[in-house]
Amino acid sequence: MTALQLLFYICAALLFQLAIGIGLAAWRWRGSGTSPMTMPIEAGANGQKLAWPGLRDFRVLRRQFDDALRTQCSFHLAPVDGVPLPPFLAGQFLTFAFDIPQPAGGANRLITRCYSVSDAPRPDAYRITVKRVLSPPNRPELPPGIASSHLHDRVQEGDLLRVRAPSGRFFIDADAEVPAVFIAGGIGITPLVSMLGWCLAQQPGRVLHLFYGLRHGGEHAFKSSLEALAAQHPAFHLNVVYSQPGQADVLGRDHQHAGYVDVALLRQTLPHGRHAFYICGPPPMMASLIPALIAWGIPPQDIHHEAFGPASLVPVQAASAEAATTTVEVQFRRSGRTLIWDGQDASLLDFAERHGIAAESGCRSGSCGSCETGIRSGTVRYAVKPDHEVAAGRCLLCVGTPGSALVLDA
Ligand SMILES: Cc1cc2nc3c(=O)[nH]c(=O)nc-3n(C[C@H](O)[C@H](O)[C@H](O)COP(=O)(O)OP(=O)(O)OC[C@H]3O[C@@H](n4cnc5c(N)ncnc54)[C@H](O)[C@@H]3O)c2cc1C
Ligand code: FES
Repeated sequence: MTALQLLFYICAALLFQLAIGIGLAAWRWRGSGTSPMTMPIEAGANGQKLAWPGLRDFRVLRRQFDDALRTQCSFHLAPVDGVPLPPFLAGQFLTFAFDIPQPAGGANRLITRCYSVSDAPRPDAYRITVKRVLSPPNRPELPPGIASSHLHDRVQEGDLLRVRAPSGRFFIDADAEVPAVFIAGGIGITPLVSMLGWCLAQQPGRVLHLFYGLRHGGEHAFKSSLEALAAQHPAFHLNVVYSQPGQADVLGRDHQHAGYVDVALLRQTLPHGRHAFYICGPPPMMASLIPALIAWGIPPQDIHHEAFGPASLVPVQAASAEAATTTVEVQFRRSGRTLIWDGQDASLLDFAERHGIAAESGCRSGSCGSCETGIRSGTVRYAVKPDHEVAAGRCLLCVGTPGSALVLDA
């Protein structure tokens, strides 16, 4: 073999390797570029591991009201760094850190709040939908909701928001054989719209029922899009329930039922057989519906729920007998209070709030870190390992209970 021939063979081998390398890279790129809509639900976020650490900047691409009364506003958010968004599990939420300007030019106040993604996973943007929170009707002297007023009144298209990665344990299962029943009260529709969108795209044959409880048509969010989905997908059954229909609201056109979403309605509407229930609504709805479902004979493992506040702590399974009976002393140093934990509360956060001790909170489910507090002495235990990485010597009040007598910084 001549030197020229040898050189030819070496070049040919190198070119062959290069071609294989390019082919493999292209194949991998196609895989990573696959829309999360077409990814199996187990891919990416798993409810335990955050898709990015800390806060990431997002720009508000668009904002629009989704109800006739303009109390629910959607914000479409794109990452400033332009890197495609990792997949998340439909039903999960984002945690926001807001810098809220204070009156009289005081230093901005940092506020943490969680908002569910209100759209099926997509690689370019998230959508959240925020309801304006007013002062409680019986306490008009109190200020309206801080973060929701900030978003409604100040945050405009082009503005930046700082966001933690999707998180949370309220997400749709992947078992297309079991019909899913989505039950929403008011703004609790947001994670369910995300789950619905994911199911319709990924599990087109799955039987889906949405029961959406509202007072009247003025607060009916996503009305036309939900009606369009029900018209396009025969396996999706839409049941809108108005408790106080207005004069312009027509039964059979705007809503399918009058009254409340309760077990009587579910029994009358749902066919026999196993269903997976996903519930998100205001505290009274959760507090009545979940025990009623259990009393109806629905196994607790088929009931998934989230509330946008303390009712997320409505226990489907009773707290452990040990937690219910153990009595220990808990000292809150900053507040100057020493109290006796008697197992009545689901968490140290509930316990603190019940005794009038102010504590920061956001998700109330161990994901956002806003309730993190230093432990001076003692131990805190968690029924389930929290999503948020807890630093040594610190604890999460919202999902922690005392493992022994405690001295906390709060
Ligand atoms: C997992 C999760 C997902 C969520 N998803 C959504 C969502 O998709 N859409 C959505 O709109 N919300 C959602 N929320 C709720 C959201 O995080 C906020 O709790 C909500 O927007 C209210 O926040 P705020 O700052 O506006 O109100 P806050 O400032 O927290 O005020 C809440 C209420 O307390 C009253 N108040 C003020 N001061 C006092 C006082 N001293 N004593 C008693 N009451 C007082 C206020 O008047 C108001 O009525 C979610 C919450 C969680 C935990
Ligand atoms: S309130 Fe979010 S981790 Fe506790």
